[in-house]
Amino acid sequence: MSQDIILSGMRPTGKLHLGHYHGVLKNWVAMQQTSQCYFMVADLHALTTAYEDPSIIKSSIWDMVIDWLAAGLDPEKAAIFIQSKVPQHAELHLALSMVTPLSWLERVPTYKDQITKLTDKDLGTYGFLGYPVLMSADILLYRATKVPVGEDQIPHVEICREIARRFNHFYGKEPNYEELAQALLKKMGKVGKEIAKLRTAYLQNGDEDALKQAHQLVLASQNVNSEEKNRLFGFIENKGRSILYEPEVSLTKASKMPGLDGAKMSKSYGNTITMREDPQSVSKKIRAMPTDPARVRRTDPGDPEKCPVWQFHLVYSSEETKQWVKTECPKAGIGCIDCKQPLIESVVAEQQPIFERAQKYLDNPALVQEIVLMGSEKARKAAQTTMNDVRAALGLEV
Ligand code: TRP
Ligand code: SF4
Repeated sequence: MSQDIILSGMRPTGKLHLGHYHGVLKNWVAMQQTSQCYFMVADLHALTTAYEDPSIIKSSIWDMVIDWLAAGLDPEKAAIFIQSKVPQHAELHLALSMVTPLSWLERVPTYKDQITKLTDKDLGTYGFLGYPVLMSADILLYRATKVPVGEDQIPHVEICREIARRFNHFYGKEPNYEELAQALLKKMGKVGKEIAKLRTAYLQNGDEDALKQAHQLVLASQNVNSEEKNRLFGFIENKGRSILYEPEVSLTKASKMPGLDGAKMSKSYGNTITMREDPQSVSKKIRAMPTDPARVRRTDPGDPEKCPVWQFHLVYSSEETKQWVKTECPKAGIGCIDCKQPLIESVVAEQQPIFERAQKYLDNPALVQEIVLMGSEKARKAAQTTMNDVRAALGLEV
């Protein structure tokens, strides 16, 4: 297990498709092996844009969780939960809103962009402006060290870092933290002495290894609560203690998975194959894919570079099959239906285990609810620890 704490989320806005699978979910499945992961259904975020008709949110939540599980998320390893089932998100959102300057939110590129693009919705609301504040609360509640997101979400994680810094700046300095930390080290005995030595090595010689070791010793200490651990972290670096931790972005590379028409796969373009698409429908959709427009007749030569089908081969096919397409297409040696056949087989084969895993949950909806209940419980526990610190910092009753 690495020391990383990972949080990410998805808005429930409809069925997931192969773009989500290749772009996001495979990445999540890999991360759950090595880190403490929290994966969240961001239903409150969905509400910021779908507030006029929230029915799509309700109907998408369970399908989405089943898609996650079918992709291989393991509820024994990762906490899978629903944002609105953890009221601490709303609570921290409110607390953070006190210190967040309006100008930071108005400057977020996605803000104006979405307002002008989604003309069928009135997004001139307080809730929508606060979207990045809510997202910051999601991240900071779990003291996440890494946030896997796509490129479009980077500005939101940046704002999260700025909000954390500002919050710590206002409330993060205990006036007597140095005394408190020294007393704590003394209480810790031998380990405390070791930490003090490593701290000196770091502060005097910039020894990064010593810093790491000191952190590890603090993390591994029993009988030291999380508030005290924070205090020690701050002390080791002479920074005062921080209440909220700045996360790093872990950029999820754009998936190579294109849509059926060659554009990005997206529900709004109507060019998707869903993660649990009926095999007949997979076949029908791939057969209907547009090809190199210059290839009108079977006898016309084609150019894979100008063909969306080739992009699918890049994701799904072996070197051998790709070579076959590359040599046969330009001399009209194969027809487009021939070319599409191995893709139909690959997509259907890829979906087979996804269907199988999903079936268990479709047969037993109570099991899915149980998983989410358990995940939300785990999330609430972690979130409450942070909220206690935040409340104390703001002078609110704990
Ligand atoms: N805004 C994200 C998206 O639309 C979803 C999300 C909500 C999220 N809260 C998050 C992602 C926290 C990462 C961390 O994709
Ligand atoms: Fe596209 Fe394949 Fe047809 Fe060539 S043979 S145009 S790559 S579908």
